[in-house]
Amino acid sequence: MLSSRRLLISITIFSFLFFGCKPRTPQLTFAVGGASNEVEYWEKIVSEFTDSTRIDVVLLRQPTDTDQRRQGLVIPLRSRQQDPDIFLMDVIWVGQFAASDWLEPLDSVVATGDVNLADFFESIVNQVDTYHDSLYALPVYNDCGLLYFRKDLLEKYGLKPPVTWQQLIRSADIVQENERITNPHFFGFVWQGAQYEGLVCNFLEFAASNNGGIIDSAGGIIVYTPENIRAADLMHDLIHKHKISPPNTYTEMKEEETRLAFENGNALYERNWPYAWALHNKEGSRVKGKVAAALLPRGHNGQHAAALGGWHIGISKFSDNKTEAMTFLKFVLSYATQKKLALNLGWNPGRSDLYEDADVRRKMPHLDVLKNSFDHAVARPTSPYYTQISEILQQNQNAALSGKSSSDEALARAQREINEILQRYNE
Ligand code: GLC
Repeated sequence: MLSSRRLLISITIFSFLFFGCKPRTPQLTFAVGGASNEVEYWEKIVSEFTDSTRIDVVLLRQPTDTDQRRQGLVIPLRSRQQDPDIFLMDVIWVGQFAASDWLEPLDSVVATGDVNLADFFESIVNQVDTYHDSLYALPVYNDCGLLYFRKDLLEKYGLKPPVTWQQLIRSADIVQENERITNPHFFGFVWQGAQYEGLVCNFLEFAASNNGGIIDSAGGIIVYTPENIRAADLMHDLIHKHKISPPNTYTEMKEEETRLAFENGNALYERNWPYAWALHNKEGSRVKGKVAAALLPRGHNGQHAAALGGWHIGISKFSDNKTEAMTFLKFVLSYATQKKLALNLGWNPGRSDLYEDADVRRKMPHLDVLKNSFDHAVARPTSPYYTQISEILQQNQNAALSGKSSSDEALARAQREINEILQRYNE
């Protein structure tokens, strides 16, 4: 017979093993990246979720660069790993992830009425999140390229925000020349020209605002056109001829490098996404209260254009915790969470109903410019082979920017290489 003391010890060990060590519920792994304030804010959201559902979530911190974020997801998904259960995807990956059969369909959350598609922008859901008539993702936030400018400096030199690229060049030139007297690091215009996905977005904006583009009316990918060559020349000239953009534009400039240059008081104009707004205006920023946003300029006879970006949430087909992942997805897409993301990160909400929210409008005075940018949004191709196409565009556009190739040579080569890819896949 067990002595009462030994019995007590056995019960304690048994209870510890079976109750004490047992996790509260399965643990979800959620992969997110971006600027450090974004990741920190997700930590808050996740802990609120755990408090109300008792579902633990581990944040898998990813880098800022979209290409590196993609790589971090493709490796586990290709090997059918269970983690991460749920993640944010760049608009341009959703088609490829769905075609690779890596995503759990979300049609059930719509069928049960837990998510109402009418709360989202229909064209975005149709273009980005739907594949072969099934829903695979939903937008957490929508991005579009914007022009940030220093109100104080334009005022100081009696200038107006530019509407055309020519006006941008002229005003940047005047301000740069004068500001350089006291600040040798000052440049007129900073944007993203390094060899990565952001360059494709910038190129698309220069091209579309000069009557060019990369998708023709039949959905084909056409890059070698006189309009696109002129746009690539303009990008090259901003650095080498007008010298209003820094020489490291094509070696280093991605979103964060650009944001920091502007935030440190070293630029008059900046092309960036909506996330930069809250950071420019945060406590301690040198440009707090001195910034405004406008549509990106247009060419002489062109239209304003803004690349359509954004991040969409989806669930891995290989997750062991799909029910909990669905609960988390609904939480992230709820009005309350989306409102917090907009108020705290200045994001362009994925839900369309938030654009009329009085608090959001107060906090984001540039919301109308943002909404307006959507009318000028230009999408990148949604092909499942987009990654290969983008790599070709990145390399050749970067070669044109650095002056290694002329714009004509670079775009002709890009067109040849893209045609080969599309022929290989019979597109
Ligand atoms: C932003 C956009 C994304 C784009 C990326 C390029 O994150 O939302 O769509 O691909 O920038 O750097």
